[in-house]
Amino acid sequence: MSGPKKLFIKTYGCQMNVYDSERMAETLAGQGYVTTETAEDADMVLLNTCHIREKAAEKVYSDLGRLRPLKQANPDLKIGVAGCVAQAEGEEILRRMPLVDLVVGPQSYHRLPELVQAPGRVVDTDMPAETKFDHLPPRKAPRGPTAFLTVQEGCDKFCAFCVVPYTRGAEVSRPVDRLLDEARDLAGRGVREITLLGQNVNAYHGAGPDGPWSLARLIGALAGIEGLARIRYTTSHPNDMADDLIAAHGEQPKLMPYLHLPVQSGSDRILKAMNRKHTADQYLRLVERIRAARPDILLTSDFIVAFPGETEADFQATLDLISAVGFGAAYSFKYSARPGTPAAERPDLPAEVADDRLQRLQALINALAQAAQEAMLGREVGVLYERAGRLPGQMVGKSDHLHAVHVVDPQGRPGDLVRVRIAATAPHSLAGTRLAG
Ligand code: SAH
Ligand code: SF4
Ligand code: F3S
Repeated sequence: MSGPKKLFIKTYGCQMNVYDSERMAETLAGQGYVTTETAEDADMVLLNTCHIREKAAEKVYSDLGRLRPLKQANPDLKIGVAGCVAQAEGEEILRRMPLVDLVVGPQSYHRLPELVQAPGRVVDTDMPAETKFDHLPPRKAPRGPTAFLTVQEGCDKFCAFCVVPYTRGAEVSRPVDRLLDEARDLAGRGVREITLLGQNVNAYHGAGPDGPWSLARLIGALAGIEGLARIRYTTSHPNDMADDLIAAHGEQPKLMPYLHLPVQSGSDRILKAMNRKHTADQYLRLVERIRAARPDILLTSDFIVAFPGETEADFQATLDLISAVGFGAAYSFKYSARPGTPAAERPDLPAEVADDRLQRLQALINALAQAAQEAMLGREVGVLYERAGRLPGQMVGKSDHLHAVHVVDPQGRPGDLVRVRIAATAPHSLAGTRLAG
């Protein structure tokens, strides 16, 4: 076949996978691959997978099944499984799915160029001592005014339900100079907002010129980069919210008033069983300190319902904590037993109990999210335009508080940071008018 080879990547799971998929595409660009939007016209399909819940992991197998006719029609089609399912299941994927040619884990995908050329079927789930970041090619021009930047990977916390410490490995922070270079490069290509990523991003302690730097120090240095207007970070663990990071929310204007701070449960008994290493009260006091530094900060969280042993009273404690904090949004999940984690040894609650609790929790969260949106009515907010909207002259962007905002602004361009007066709310977005200046 002539012309460039086409690569289709499907990304599952968290934002770190979004970042990784971008870097995999860049790595394979060196082998002559260009990305395409559909599997049908691809020469190679890569599924960048997530192992966090059973449903997420099983979806990969049904998607692989759907690729079978393509592989039959074109035996040269290469099919690869990357990401956290690849790490967790390795060889098992080759056994279960004969159409898969290659399996590559999240810490070894810098070796993709060799792996795609290797004869036969290959598995690479090493967690090499050298980091992939030292071997990846430089980032190419990004598509829009926002970008992710992975600053920290892996996790040493071992929450009783979670596979991440096993799929991503031990906690590692990238050195400050590399991150500043990558961020400067992104800003030079038009990126105005960077979201710093890590499974435990606020545990960041990368090597700086004078010893390890905290996340707050890194944010301070990033704020000095010309052109970069906004900084966010995710996901944080409550126990790693250091004083300097809390203070930065009050002092650093480029740090956005938004914080995703997963708590999982409001019951001390369940928090202990989850090995979260903090109580509900400690979390509430932490929230008070964060709000003292930045009163208008919008807080979001993650919740697991029906963790083994969770009683109705434990669940009520979670609802109470949600009401007490007043989260602006939250992700919530039914507990899913994951192989190899301590909690998987404990008996599951009945499915009806889990369904009922999830529904009740989501109803409360939705009401709070609605209230948080309505509280924006009449307020003046900063909006970074990301793309044109569906209506003529309309732009869509994100507010400082990460709400989606629609603005009719025929002069607007992606990357413009404008002041907007919020005039209307819809279920998942706000609308407003651009202010002068
Ligand atoms: N590092 C982050 C979260 C990573 S996983 C943190 O510490 O909070 C993202 C979310 O998936 C978690 O916050 C949790 O709510 C959910 N999750 C993780 N394992 C799960 C499981 N076994 N069942 C259901 N939800 C789970
Ligand atoms: Fe998983 Fe807990 Fe680590 Fe978050 S802190 S990635 S939930 S083990
Ligand atoms: Fe999923 Fe791995 Fe992210 S398990 S949530 S893709 S770290």
